[in-house]
Amino acid sequence: MAFKNTKNNYGSIAKWLHWTIVALFLGSYCAVYFRHWFTEEKTPENWTALQLHLSFGITIAAVVILRIIWRNFNQTPGQEPGTKLAHISAHIGHYALYSVMILMPLSGYIGTGVNTEFFFLFDIAKFEATSIYQTLVTDWLGLSFKKFEEPIDFFHKEIMGKWAVWILILGHAMAAMYHHFVAKDRTLKKMTTG
Ligand code: HEM
Ligand code: HEM
Repeated sequence: MAFKNTKNNYGSIAKWLHWTIVALFLGSYCAVYFRHWFTEEKTPENWTALQLHLSFGITIAAVVILRIIWRNFNQTPGQEPGTKLAHISAHIGHYALYSVMILMPLSGYIGTGVNTEFFFLFDIAKFEATSIYQTLVTDWLGLSFKKFEEPIDFFHKEIMGKWAVWILILGHAMAAMYHHFVAKDRTLKKMTTG
């Protein structure tokens, strides 16, 4: 299997990056919902689940940087036959997914008031403890952390985490299933066995 993308297929590296991110999203969502549904506040399990959510999220940020760099060194496989509208929607959908992969870790990180114990291996300082925060938020904007994090938390949790990201990912996965089982074209194969 080729490392790089070809005219017809994603290469092994693009596939690996895509499916790794899918697994990380799953991990991140499972951790945060396990925390909400199955743990009591201020218990060790509650903290572990939060830390796993943060660790998966930060890993997504690292992998998406590699993914964007790799994408720029590669051609994008051609689209299967379809209407112009379908092609444009797929394009917009992919850019929206890239935005989510950047904005979710970013808003999560800057809006969180605790350090990340990265998979319990080492600590990553919270944004509030960095000099960028001091310069930008305290000195320049003159805001307290609470005032600063409120809208960011709202965006991360209420707008994106609970709704927009789900809709986008489910829409994307359903489109892939439609192509595979209804239109019976190579869209899913390009990202799997193709
Ligand atoms: C792509 C990555 C991420 C996704 C999809 C994501 C998604 C979510 C979701 C769905 C929630 C729960 C919303 C709710 O129902 O209340 C949440 C909460 C939260 N996220 Fe993220 N997040 C990501 C990355 C991060 C990162 C990198 C951090 C911080 C380093 C972070 C920090 C938090 C915190 C502190 C909460 C509140 C905890 C809780 O509700 O139990 N997130 N996130
Ligand atoms: C079970 C879930 C998923 C399935 C079945 C799936 C399937 C696919 C398929 C078949 C393609 C190729 C589409 C084409 O070339 O027209 C693709 C591309 C893509 N997927 Fe997914 N995907 C899933 C989850 C995700 C998730 C969670 C994300 C990120 C949040 C994501 C982001 C993307 C992006 C950005 C592309 C475009 C790649 C590029 O051209 O650079 N996918 N996916």
